[in-house]
Amino acid sequence: MPEFIHEFAPGNATGRGLTLLLLHGTGGDERALLPMAPLLEPGAAVLSPRGKVLEQGRPRFFRRLAEGVFDLEDLKLRAHELADFVETASARYGFNPRRVIAAGYSNGANIAAAVLLLRPRTLAGAVLFRPMVLIMPDELPGLVGMPVFISAGRQDPIVRPEETKRLAKLLGDAGADVTLNWSANGHWLGPEEIALARQWLVSLPIASAASGRAS
Ligand code: MLT
Repeated sequence: MPEFIHEFAPGNATGRGLTLLLLHGTGGDERALLPMAPLLEPGAAVLSPRGKVLEQGRPRFFRRLAEGVFDLEDLKLRAHELADFVETASARYGFNPRRVIAAGYSNGANIAAAVLLLRPRTLAGAVLFRPMVLIMPDELPGLVGMPVFISAGRQDPIVRPEETKRLAKLLGDAGADVTLNWSANGHWLGPEEIALARQWLVSLPIASAASGRAS
């Protein structure tokens, strides 16, 4: 198994059979986003890995050379590694690999977007808080019907609005069903954005644990 230090918690009968793949921001760890899980999808199973790259001791999911300068080869490699981890974790823990929703913040949203573009079958949907466009694939992946919620901050000094729009367009061009929310916040995430992501998740036509996005 491509190992990550991680937390896993099984879902319960009150849930809809979904698994949340929680992906923290720079300097976070596998516990950072755990409190968000029941707010987003009560009863969901939770898989929360810790990014393996250390930047001055701060975990990340892929290397960057400076603020805003990314190692794209490392990003690609690590997106595949994360997708492999989710696959093997589903066999180990017994969650449905067709019902995994990524929920990532900042660096975690960026690796989630890379997984959507490079290994789309890993995910049944994604909640991306403060993502950017890092990978422009030569060929668009097939993301028809893939639900994606993006929440951006109008005052974000790190992710410019054009970046957010570019990512929404890229995913939309690949067929994803993108919902874009603009908050008045900066790079930091407000609780109202988590509540909006929850409303969006509730609105998804996810009928029963037996169904799921066709692979
Ligand atoms: C961060 O600080 O995490 C950046 O904004 C996003 C990234 O590095 O992927």
